[in-house]
Amino acid sequence: MTKLRESAKASGKKVRLRSIESGMSDDVRAYRKHYSQFLRSGVFLIDKVSAYLLKTRGKGIRPLLTLVGARAYGHTGALPESTLSAALIVELLHTASLIHDDVVDRADERRGRPSLNLVFNNKVAVLFGDFMLSRSLEGMFNQRNFDVLDLFSDCAFRLARGELVEAIGSRKLDLDKSAYYTMVSDKTASLISAACQMGPLSLGKSVEESLPMKQYGELLGIAFQIRDDLLDFGAGGPRLGKPIGLDLGQAKLTLPLIHVLEQVSPIDKKRILSRLKKSKKAGKRGKKVDLSDIIALIDEKGGIAYSQQVAVDYAKKAAEALQPLPDNEYRRKLEQFAYFAAERDR
Ligand code: FPP
Ligand code: MG
Repeated sequence: MTKLRESAKASGKKVRLRSIESGMSDDVRAYRKHYSQFLRSGVFLIDKVSAYLLKTRGKGIRPLLTLVGARAYGHTGALPESTLSAALIVELLHTASLIHDDVVDRADERRGRPSLNLVFNNKVAVLFGDFMLSRSLEGMFNQRNFDVLDLFSDCAFRLARGELVEAIGSRKLDLDKSAYYTMVSDKTASLISAACQMGPLSLGKSVEESLPMKQYGELLGIAFQIRDDLLDFGAGGPRLGKPIGLDLGQAKLTLPLIHVLEQVSPIDKKRILSRLKKSKKAGKRGKKVDLSDIIALIDEKGGIAYSQQVAVDYAKKAAEALQPLPDNEYRRKLEQFAYFAAERDR
């Protein structure tokens, strides 16, 4: 068993997404109906791209957090339109950012299927991302709530800043742990946190009342992204959707690598970074370089086990942030979700 697997088991709380979704099917169904209706544009090509996206729908984690978040504040009966719309805004913004991210990363796969930029082309993908962003903006405005506009304007700013800082970091091959955490918190935790906070805000709760969800989402988001970075090193096992070594091959500096770079000699550091630089260049010419020896080195030097432990620690802190909320089954789902984020296989 690799060090990674041992540490993933260390929390003793491997959670399945299914157990969090159970009991939420009416809410999820209502949200999905909303989603497919909202994407229709009346323009053939746009609807064709939408149909492809609907087929490649992801796990729907962010909208699920909005729905469970609203329930955690004690809402009973059917969820209001404002909550279903909030879940939709979050998913549209997320999908828009991923479509753009795949263009930036030259990714040819998303959610186990060919990415939009590959099936269509970069131009269609960028413009379709813009289209989704515009639909999301419309949904935000329709909430008629300045706290919501405040939340998403900050979130969009952080998303773009995080993505830019990552791109600059991989160009200069220079990103330390502190810059990594800020980048991850911008790039991923900002939107997960907004998804969480939108649960109570969409029910008319005040910003102050929604703060435990904001805090939970920020911590959860960091755990989620660290685990995402670990999946690039094969942490999810050989099966599912995520290709191995894509981030590394593009010289993206993620926690396992940063941790190891801090420990090795300056000569080894130079050697590793120069391999990554070459791999990135080769990638631009459509070639793939074998980096399995670097992945093995990162595992051997404890970068993977260390990062896994950090992810689980963030998950624990996220679960603790929920303490001010009523003790109900939905709060427990959110607590479980934090561990799922830190230990998921896809
Ligand atoms: C995935 O990261 C990317 C993000 C979480 C954010 C991307 C953000 C942008 C492109 C800015 C967009 C801004 C607006 C306002 C829409 P990753 O590449 O590490 O994850 P992956 O492995 O899933 O691709
Ligand atoms: Mg990417």
